[in-house]
Amino acid sequence: MVNKGEEDRIRDKHVLSDDERSRRTQIVRRSWAKQVSRYDKSMGFIERKLLGPEHRQWAAGKAEGDTLEVAIGTGLNITHYTADTRLSGIDLSPEMLDLARARGRELNRQIDLRVGDAHELPYPDRSFDAVVCTYSLCNIPDHGLALSEMKRVLRSGGKLILVDHVRSSFAPLFWFQRFIEFFTLRLQGETQTRRPLEQVVNAGFEITERDRMHAGVVERLVAVNQGAPVSDPTATRDHS
Ligand SMILES: C[S@@+](CC[C@H](N)C(=O)[O-])C[C@H]1O[C@@H](n2cnc3c(N)ncnc32)[C@H](O)[C@@H]1O
Repeated sequence: MVNKGEEDRIRDKHVLSDDERSRRTQIVRRSWAKQVSRYDKSMGFIERKLLGPEHRQWAAGKAEGDTLEVAIGTGLNITHYTADTRLSGIDLSPEMLDLARARGRELNRQIDLRVGDAHELPYPDRSFDAVVCTYSLCNIPDHGLALSEMKRVLRSGGKLILVDHVRSSFAPLFWFQRFIEFFTLRLQGETQTRRPLEQVVNAGFEITERDRMHAGVVERLVAVNQGAPVSDPTATRDHS
């Protein structure tokens, strides 16, 4: 198990400054512009061998009504939404979104796709019945801030649906993740040891479903927006 001191150290790191957030955002944007052509293939491989391919259907199948997918990437989830879901998607990377647009056209889906930043969602308060985010809170520089934005755009009673790879509770695996993170954070802005559950709870959501699987590396959550605003968004941030 990861010991309590280490858990606290991870949780108590300082809030990202605006400069640091925009520096990391640039790294992320550049990294996806380079990786875009390989993404679907490499992600497919990682899902088959490690994370499990079933989580996309699980996540998209829980969404109903006006739905926003944050950091939609190349749109790998689009095929799994039911036909009556009114889907919007946002991503930082125009290159990733081009593939999502092509996928939407192939599947004959009407989707409002926009280039935008999860730290500052370009939608009015209470616009959506569901917000979905898969494998992206590990990559969004300030995921606590992104979660407070997700809460803002959700209607009261709306659902937050998350799938991500998180830090393992199995110590050798956790330290391996820390080692890899040293490189992935610097090169791609990709973290390996976050656990969004903590920020989701801090943001005042009520967790209604939670599964942790694959040696604790994958966590799936459904949480309901209780309606109260996030009084202090910094309370939901950590600094990995
Ligand atoms: C690992 S990919 C996941 C893509 C997709 N959600 C999936 O499940 O395949 C991470 C995505 O997060 C996006 N991203 C990272 N930071 C972001 C931000 N601040 N705002 C919007 N999208 C962001 C990246 O551009 C990239 O498309």
